[in-house]
Formats: sequence, C-alpha cells, structure tokens
Amino acid sequence: METGKIATSKKAEILDKQKRYLFPNHLLYYTEPLPLERGEGLHVWDVDGNKYLDFFGGILTTSVGHNRPEVTQAVREQTEKFIHSSTLYPNEAHVNLAEKMAQLAPGRIQVSYFTTSGTDADETAVMLARQHTGNQEVIALRHGYSGRSAMGMSLTGQSSWRIGGTHILGIKHAINPYCYRCPLKLKYPSCGVACAHDVEDVIKTTTSGRIAAFLAEPIQGVGGFITPPPEYFKIVADIIRHYGGLFVSDEVQTGFGRTGEKWFGIEHWEVEPDIMTMAKGIANGFPLGNTMTRPDIAESTVGAGLTISTFGGNPVACAASLATMEVLEKEADPEHVARVGKALRAGLERLADKHPFIGDVRGMGLMQGLEFVKDRQSREPAPKAASHFMELSRKEGLLVGKGGLYGNVIRISPPLTASADDVEEALELAGKALKGVVVD
Ligand SMILES: Cc1ncc(COP(=O)(O)O)c(C=O)c1O
Repeated sequence: METGKIATSKKAEILDKQKRYLFPNHLLYYTEPLPLERGEGLHVWDVDGNKYLDFFGGILTTSVGHNRPEVTQAVREQTEKFIHSSTLYPNEAHVNLAEKMAQLAPGRIQVSYFTTSGTDADETAVMLARQHTGNQEVIALRHGYSGRSAMGMSLTGQSSWRIGGTHILGIKHAINPYCYRCPLKLKYPSCGVACAHDVEDVIKTTTSGRIAAFLAEPIQGVGGFITPPPEYFKIVADIIRHYGGLFVSDEVQTGFGRTGEKWFGIEHWEVEPDIMTMAKGIANGFPLGNTMTRPDIAESTVGAGLTISTFGGNPVACAASLATMEVLEKEADPEHVARVGKALRAGLERLADKHPFIGDVRGMGLMQGLEFVKDRQSREPAPKAASHFMELSRKEGLLVGKGGLYGNVIRISPPLTASADDVEEALELAGKALKGVVVD
C-alpha cells in the first residue's frame, strides 16, 4: 500500500505497517503476504478468518501444534511466577530442562548451554570447538544453512543467504551429498560416496591441516531437505577426527523426532557427535536455542574467559520446552513420526508419479521435500513452478514451505502431532494444487 493511503481492513493495516515500519528485507511468503492471527493444533487462521492446514509449522518449529494447552498452561504458570532471571542465577525450569535434554540426547552428550536461537546455538558450538581443540578452522557444507550472524552466514553454503560480503575467515565448505544433483556427476552407490572424501581434500588443501570442527545438518533443511546416503557421515566423522576436529551435528531442523524413529537426525547415520545444536521445535515457538556436548568437552570452557546469555535459559521458554517434550513423549514420539511420515512419503510419491515436474521426493519422517524441475531429463530447476504451487496450495487452504539453492524445493514439515487423517487431508489439498501448476 502507498504511504499516505488509509488502510481499510485489518489485513491492509497490517500489510501497510509491515511496509512502513519493518525492514524491506523481511522475506515474506506469497505474492500477497499472509497475516496470521491465531492457531489451534494443525490449523491457523488469517486475519480475514480463512482457515489453513499448517504443514510448515512456522519453519519446523510448532512441534506439538499451535496453542497446545499443555504448553500454554506451563507458560502461564511460569509467567505468573517469574519471567526472567538471566544465566547469572540458576532457575528450576532451566536445570530441569537440561536434565530432560540429557535424557533425550544420544551417546555421551549430557550438558547444555541454552541461548535464544539456532544461530546462537551454532555460534556457541564453534566457540566451544575452538576452545576445546585449540584449533581455529571449521569445515561446513555447501548448501548448508547456519543462521544470520556473521558466523552463521559464513558457515552457510548458499550465496543468497550470505549477505554483506564480509565473512569470517577460516571457514571452508566441502561439497555436499546431494545425490539428485551430484556435484561430482556420479551415481550412488557406484560413486563409493566420493563426496565424503572431499572433506579430506578441503582440509588438506585449504586449511592448516588442523581443524576445530566440522558442522553439518544430518538432513540439510533450508538447502531443500537434502538427505545424504547412509554411509556419508560415518566416513566424514573419521576424517574429521583424524584432523583433530569435533563433529558438530546441527539438529536445529532435524531434532526432537522430526526425522522419525530417532530423537535426533544424526542417530540415523550411526555417528556419535561431539556437539549438537538445536532450536526451532525445542519449545513449540518460544525462542530457545541449545548447544549440547560431552562433560569432558564442556570442561574446556573453564578458565577460557567469560560468557553470558541475558535471555539464555529464560524460565518461560524453558517451561514451554519442558511441556513440549512431555507432549512429544506422550503423543508424538519418533515412532509416531515414522509411522505418519511413511504415509506422507507414500502419498507424495503417488503425486510425483502423476506430475513429471516433481523430479525428486526426499527426506525422512515428517520432513519431506519435493524438488520441482522443468523436466526429469534435464533436471533444470523450476523455481517459478514451485512458487506457483505455493500460491495454489494457499488457495486450497494448505501451508507449506519452500527452500533450496534454486528456490525450487517444496518443504513439507507439519507439527509432529500430525495424524494420519491430517496427512490424508494435506495430500488431497496438495494434489488439487499440483493439478494447476504451470511449468515454464
Ligand atoms: C539448520 C539450521 N541451523 C541454524 C539455523 C538458525 O536458526 P535461527 O533462525 O533460530 O537463528 C537454522 C534456521 O533455519 C537452521 O535451519
């Protein structure tokens, strides 16, 4: 809306204020942005009262559904008691959540440092790895995403998310295990997972030969749900350790059962990480990040200098997270996610059979992606078709996400409490939307 014009509806007023008072670089989905007003379970409503089935969950964050009563209740109780403490004082919700995290985390991962976002969690991981190893350099993956701080953008392997041109030195990017678009133009399994060995090449040729860490997502999220072959991380972990580095598993998207069967994505690949980072689904939408590690690694922070997080371990966010974990354990544990995710995957594959512009269906559990291409032969990315599908599915009353370096991957990731019926409904709506997609 033009400056000076009077907004005539709530929606127009919100969009007007968005334009006037917020930075124009806020990325908004849809040609006409969608102001949301309320949510309940798997559904959200816009300010005009239109209802949508939410199969993106606020970027894989609303893990137990909108307005979940147990979470709301826990937040209400904590808010009435005590809203803020800072990390300078222990608080009950903070330590109880740390205990819960230790129960859920794999292997020897036991201790937490809570902050307020995934970016913050990744920053903390790199700081810790540097303190522990005494090394500086970090290896990340192309097509990865790690956040919006200088460090986060430097770790990120997608030019569109690396704003500003100035980046932190000492971070190198290896090729990623992107089988659909193999950077080495090979085919799995005859490739012998050659991409994993690029990590060693990168260390030998672009670093001092001693690294602090390797940081990667078990399934690349923003990159378009890129799922590695099962051997990939095992090979990489051996290389990393040989060159003195710690293995950081970024579980910001893949954590808390999202991938089905396991609580954390890296567990599928049978690698014990040294550090894990998490955020998004940890507290059903409350801002909370966490960096976890083994006690012996955490010990290296002692005497290494001072650090605080003003909002870290916020009692309200921790109470929300504890309630979220309880609901997940009771109602949407990794087995549930695997079961419902299997139905979602089967349905998406059926849809892909009907529409040749769906070049690849991939992901795990309730983290499923559709890569749109102009045709299956050329595999040329079709970002306009993906955007068209976003518009059409919105019209059908279904919200999904988008990602990928080329903007051509549809990301489907409902709250983990989604039922088989919810999946059925989403597939029906997606099926209707797909029928109208124009590929040019
Ligand atoms: C894998 C991964 N790491 C880190 C981040 C950064 O998290 P935040 O946006 O909470 O800072 C994201 C966000 O999308 C992410 O997907």
